Order: sequence, then structure tokens, then C-alpha cells
Amino acid sequence: MNTLFFKVANFTKGLFKACIVPRPIGWITTIDIKGNENLAPFSYFNAISDDPPMIMFSTTGKHIGGGVKDTLRNVEETREFVINIATEELRTQVNLTSADLAKGKSEFEYAELERIPSVLVKPPRVKRSPIHLECTYYSSIQLPCNSENNINRMVLGKVEGIHIAENVLTDGLIDWEKLRPIARMGYNDYATITRGNIFSLSRPAHELFIKKEEEKWKKGEGNEGSTYKKGNSNGK
Ligand SMILES: Cc1cc2nc3c(=O)[nH]c(=O)nc-3n(C[C@H](O)[C@H](O)[C@H](O)COP(=O)(O)O)c2cc1C
Repeated sequence: MNTLFFKVANFTKGLFKACIVPRPIGWITTIDIKGNENLAPFSYFNAISDDPPMIMFSTTGKHIGGGVKDTLRNVEETREFVINIATEELRTQVNLTSADLAKGKSEFEYAELERIPSVLVKPPRVKRSPIHLECTYYSSIQLPCNSENNINRMVLGKVEGIHIAENVLTDGLIDWEKLRPIARMGYNDYATITRGNIFSLSRPAHELFIKKEEEKWKKGEGNEGSTYKKGNSNGK
């Protein structure tokens, strides 16, 4: 089979991001030091640890008025933010909130979205989004940047609490058919996650580990150093 190889200097437009798919979308609410709110989508976004639960997002390029994007500035100044989960039903609004608006103009008004207060942090939540993660700022990592005046920076944050609408649950578990989260593909494309696209796999090493541990427990040889307890076999 023929393959093509591109050195970074020869990447075609959108190639890199089109290879790393699907990317979840963090739809992020922040406020500035005066309390003005901001909402924007970020697909350089992911979960990065379990305990404590942490996430990252990265802003690249620059604000239309120069300097860093509002989300980055706000989060570094006020140290709180909310991740609203982007769903198929909200796709138009998610896209609208990526517009460059004049300073002081709220994306909530622009995209005709209602806000609701958060419990632990000051930035509000998008009412229609079924899952919200209330987060605090942890640190930033400056990334290399090849274009003058642009700034690439990754933010790490800790998740302090999660809200979930009951109507996206089935038997207490998140039901992706009900949630219908959207993900960013390459170019202008997006994908929806639906049950038809989902399959399950058990992790072989993990299963073996559990079997061995269960045998030990049955024999009364529970290992002090082991973290295994029946029922904690959540895979990643
Ligand atoms: C689906 C989607 C994903 C995006 N992902 C990112 C991203 O990961 N990083 C980034 O800097 N901009 C991203 N953008 C563009 C920002 O949303 C846009 O620059 C926005 O105006 C930033 O807003 P702010 O200045 O209010 O923070 C994305 C846009 C869309 C529509």
C-alpha cells in the first residue's frame, strides 16, 4: 500500500488535527476580574487524571484584539471555570460562541443561551447543557509558538464537582444515546456519539489482575499493598 509522508514543514491545511479524532469539546465558561462572563468551545481539551480528577485545555493563536484569548486570560486571573458538555442539540450555539465578539459582549446573549449559577465557582453554567464540570485553575504551561504575536498555552484544572441532568442517565449510568455528545473531527467536520457507534472491550491485563486478586481474597490472602476491592473494576 502506498503511503504519503509529510514533514511538519509540508503539512497540508488541517492535516494534523484531522488525524487526531474525535476530539471532545470543552465548552468553557469563565468570568473576568470585573465579573463579565465568557463562553467559548475548545477541542484541545481532555481528561488527564482520575484522582484528583483533572482536565486540560489549550488556547492557540490570539484574541482578535491582540493578546491571549479571553478564556485563558480570565481563567488565569480568576482561577475558576466551568466545562459545559457540548451536545448535538446545542451544536449551532457551540459554534456561535466561537465568534470573535466585541469586548464586553456576552456569548450567552449572542447565542441566546440561558445561564444558571454554579455551586462552587463563580462562572455560570449553560442551562441547556446536560453535564457541567465545575473546575479550579491548577497551572499553565507555555507551549512553543512559531507565529509572531500568537500565544499557545495549555491550562491544567482540577474538577471540583459535576452536575448531571437525570434525563441523560439510564440505571444511574450516563447514556450516550441520550446525551449525544459532539466531537470535533478535522476540517469543518464534527461527529455525534450514538449507541450504534459504541462497543465494549474488557482490558485483558486488568481482568487477569482481578481474577488473581479474587482468588487471593477467596483464599483469605488479601494483599495489604493491593488497591483492589470488589466492584472497583472501572476501566479507562
Ligand atoms: C468546536 C471548536 C473548537 C475549538 N477549539 C479551540 C481550541 O482548542 N483552542 C483554541 O485556541 N481555539 C479553539 N477554537 C476557537 C475558539 O473557540 C475561539 O477562538 C473563541 O473566539 C475563543 O474565545 P475567547 O477569546 O472568548 O476565549 C475552537 C472553535 C470551535 C468552533
